[in-house]
Amino acid sequence: MAEFTRVADRTGELRLSPEEKEARYREVGAQVEAVLEGEADLLASMSSIVCLLHNAFPYYFWTGFYRRVAAEELLVGPYQGTMGCLRIRFDRGVCGACARERRTIVVPDVHAFPGHIACDSASASEIVVPVFDAAGELIAVFDVDSTIRGAFDDTDREHLERIVGLLRDREARPVVTAG
Ligand code: SME
Repeated sequence: MAEFTRVADRTGELRLSPEEKEARYREVGAQVEAVLEGEADLLASMSSIVCLLHNAFPYYFWTGFYRRVAAEELLVGPYQGTMGCLRIRFDRGVCGACARERRTIVVPDVHAFPGHIACDSASASEIVVPVFDAAGELIAVFDVDSTIRGAFDDTDREHLERIVGLLRDREARPVVTAG
């Protein structure tokens, strides 16, 4: 599987040109599709999406899902990056706003967003995308934070909505017991 993982160079310029960004989303989007093909497990699919995206983009600093574990509560994971807040209620932060409004939220400057939850003070901008199951229920949000301001735009939104849309038919499986 190693050939699937492009590891972005985070030592230089983090911002990609619009052309590079688009090309990289196409490349990583195809990789996600290839990896997820035939895999029905939700957690394995989420983990693979996080891994491929986080490694592909130099401006991704924190990349992960918050799963809906109660009517109005989200719980972290899977994710990559620094320590994330564990639980987020629907009335808190950008993730809560996304869950409540069931739409993607792009925040160019997190310090200007009322109620933003600063899990890591290095975060400067973010995008949060809702994740739905086949019945249209919100099952999670997908959150990406960047240390650079204004990192996310319509290109990120379009591709990320399409990529997390691949999760809609996956199953959250319980542990199988013997017998
Ligand atoms: N920024 C988010 C909190 C989650 S973390 O940044 C990982 C928010 O305000 O919803």
